[in-house]
Amino acid sequence: MTETVHVPLGDRAYDVRIGGGLLARAGAEIAPLLARPRMAILTDETVAGLHLPVLEASLAAEGIASSALALPAGEATKGWPEFSRAVEWLLAEQIERRDIVIALGGGVVGDLGGFAAAVMRRGVRFVQIPTSLLAQVDSSVGGKTGINSPRGKNLIGAFHQPSLVLADIDVLDTLAPRDFLAGYGEVVKYGLLGDAAFFEWLEEQGPALAAGDKVARTRAVRRSVEMKAEIVVRDETEQGDRALLNLGHTFCHALEAATGYSDRLLHGEGVAVGCALAFELSARMGLCSQEDPSRVRAHLRQMGMKTDLADIPGDLPDAEGLLALMAQDKKVIDGRLRFVLVKGIGKAFVAKDVPGETAQGVLQDALRNRP
Ligand code: GLY
Repeated sequence: MTETVHVPLGDRAYDVRIGGGLLARAGAEIAPLLARPRMAILTDETVAGLHLPVLEASLAAEGIASSALALPAGEATKGWPEFSRAVEWLLAEQIERRDIVIALGGGVVGDLGGFAAAVMRRGVRFVQIPTSLLAQVDSSVGGKTGINSPRGKNLIGAFHQPSLVLADIDVLDTLAPRDFLAGYGEVVKYGLLGDAAFFEWLEEQGPALAAGDKVARTRAVRRSVEMKAEIVVRDETEQGDRALLNLGHTFCHALEAATGYSDRLLHGEGVAVGCALAFELSARMGLCSQEDPSRVRAHLRQMGMKTDLADIPGDLPDAEGLLALMAQDKKVIDGRLRFVLVKGIGKAFVAKDVPGETAQGVLQDALRNRP
């Protein structure tokens, strides 16, 4: 069964469809949006091997001609060279202003493909077909598109909402367990930031979900997308509430920078560790009970996820070094550290002026527990 979450953004409104078999039905889902039966697909080499033939066949079945560009898989693709290659390829393919580009892949392809669609011919429409759990619950929804600069992640980009998102639950079967669990870090984040009952449900259903239960996976993706859509509709361009989606991200971005954006720490793993640290910081500031961080960590451990700094292999900077990396985050405003903190599970808020020494103390203690 396919479920739909509508994202009501006026003339930029769109549907997110969630369920099994959507890739094979993509042609029928997209056909009503097209001005002419012609599309371009941006993907990566790994996803192309696994899923492109099914997508192409579903488009062909509706009489839609398509061509595809498969970029190298991995975060290194999300920079100027592959971005300009993608845009030039779309122009060479004579994709016109009224056409639609498909981004088929995880967060890298979705962000780069969305940004290419945002700028080519001053903006063409695009459809997201996210193939990772992280992309299904986070990056494919909400219109943040972009690429990395050598100076930092996601520093170049545009808000450009997709015209449709097709989240096929079946494609999650092809993910490596580590990648699935990294995406699960973002799912847990939604419970922690705004829905305690959802977090409780994840505590019960998380293991079944990781083992492949499709009903549980569909429900988890749906609830995550619903929560993201509600927040994006309130604050599309992150002037306020949208920052709640960054729970765990201030710590996460520092840890990702410290580990060189390598596979020592995947983004979703950093989010999970970052959420645990954000709860610890909140407890230390007297905002939530001491039991809350323990409960968060217990669930991450139960799921076999990275939970503490001790779980990150290799060297890390000291607490001062990590704090300096946080200060470079683009979420810093006027040099003040902005954290998403919590008053309990499901009760996040944006704190604009967290004392640096308190954050440093949390990091110092977390680093002390490393082997
Ligand atoms: N991933 C955070 C956001 O979309 O705002």
